[in-house]
Amino acid sequence: QQQKTNLYNEPFRPQLHFSPKAHWMNDPNGMVYFNHTYHLFFQYYPGGTVWGPMHWGHAISKDLVHWQQLPIALYPDSLGYIFSGSAVVDSNNTSGFGKNGKIPLVAIFTHHDPKGERAGTDNFQNESIAYSLDEGRTWTKYSGNPVLKNPGIRDFRDPKVMWYAKDKKWVMTLATKDHITFYSSRDLKTWAKESEFGKEIGAHGGVWECPDLFPLKLNGKQYWVLVVNLNPGGPNGGSATQYFVGQFDGEQFVPVDDQIKWLDYGPDEYAGITWNNTGSRKIFLGWMSNWSYATQVPTASWRSAMTIPRDLKLISIDGNILLTSMPVKAILKLKQQPILAGNVHVKKIYAGNTKASTTAGRYLLDLQTNSLNDFALELANSNNEKLIIGFDKNANQYFIDRTKAGVHDFNKDFAGIFKAPRFVANKSVKLTLVVDRASVEIFADGGATVMTCIFFTEKPLNKVSILSDSAIRIKSLSIAGLKSIW
Ligand code: FRU
Repeated sequence: QQQKTNLYNEPFRPQLHFSPKAHWMNDPNGMVYFNHTYHLFFQYYPGGTVWGPMHWGHAISKDLVHWQQLPIALYPDSLGYIFSGSAVVDSNNTSGFGKNGKIPLVAIFTHHDPKGERAGTDNFQNESIAYSLDEGRTWTKYSGNPVLKNPGIRDFRDPKVMWYAKDKKWVMTLATKDHITFYSSRDLKTWAKESEFGKEIGAHGGVWECPDLFPLKLNGKQYWVLVVNLNPGGPNGGSATQYFVGQFDGEQFVPVDDQIKWLDYGPDEYAGITWNNTGSRKIFLGWMSNWSYATQVPTASWRSAMTIPRDLKLISIDGNILLTSMPVKAILKLKQQPILAGNVHVKKIYAGNTKASTTAGRYLLDLQTNSLNDFALELANSNNEKLIIGFDKNANQYFIDRTKAGVHDFNKDFAGIFKAPRFVANKSVKLTLVVDRASVEIFADGGATVMTCIFFTEKPLNKVSILSDSAIRIKSLSIAGLKSIW
């Protein structure tokens, strides 16, 4: 477990989300489960608190809740910065990097050459590999890098690699500007193009980045989920994560429908992908920020945190297949004695619960209504700063209003009201909120609608009230403080 330190006590510092000790962080990279350890690498600039020459930072966890930051894993070199990518466990030693029976971890990433970019070339992003024989502590870059050369597409990056067992080959899902290109390889060193997907489908308000491809079952039938991050063009502005559900045969991805679907409708989940090597379980984690203002948020010594890891599942609503996300169960071990209420009849305001003030603005809130009427949850403090989260029955939408939730003048797009559709039809709203000082993640209706939102209030939001003009009955409400992981 972690040693107690004062490092993580700064204002706005999350207490149950991973954030780097210091300096700039963006996308999660190389997420892989190996020898009972979850590895989280990340886009990292150790020279400042804004984006710069990219490295891969590194953190590990045994339980997806408690994190330990390790030394930097990958440094920029003569081929360029180390942009986003993935890592695989090469159990069969297909790459030949394994030695003395040691299984290699292989990282597949984009080499971004800033000189080539400045010179105005079109092929400054290429895919490279590196391997580790000591559980990701030290890495050796392959002498034959890059292993996949850019054919002349400026945005050619963020390889997510997985083992396609049926054909005994590796499949790379690569973001190539406005579409995805699939490649395959026997040894992670030589790659052949399989197919393209997406030019005429999905959201295209910006560049496609950080993709992912994995199978998930629904009622015993296997589907494939293709995750595609997009910047800008998200449903609430800026960067966001869309996904497609379909079939993949090792060569081609064919979607089951042509709807645009978002994994998270909030403004602050981006570049999210899943861990490799976790069997049939699929665990997702994103960067808890938005490129619209990520470099301007008012934290002092570090910038940004990751979301809570989330379990993904498929559900079908009237034949429409959706991807749901819920926080991993492991966070429940941070739960303190909950404050419970049942059968609350809200007329105007249910004057919430002052006892939540013991939670330092850090809690898990579960709420279930008995009817489908407008209502809002107000998370507030004694400075009258407030974040409002609610349901709008006529619009059949959830919303988050952070216009009064503290500091927002660092960027004109920050203050706002963000909306998301409700997908399920039942007459009871179920919400789970994970609140961690400067962020809230909302999981509605079992994770069918998800919204992530950061905020910067002077004091923690530890007063919870329920507001409703139309009388609403709350079947159950539970607020449990969450212990710090640091
Ligand atoms: C996404 C992204 C990736 C790229 C990385 C650079 O946020 O733009 O496409 O690899 O960040 O840091």
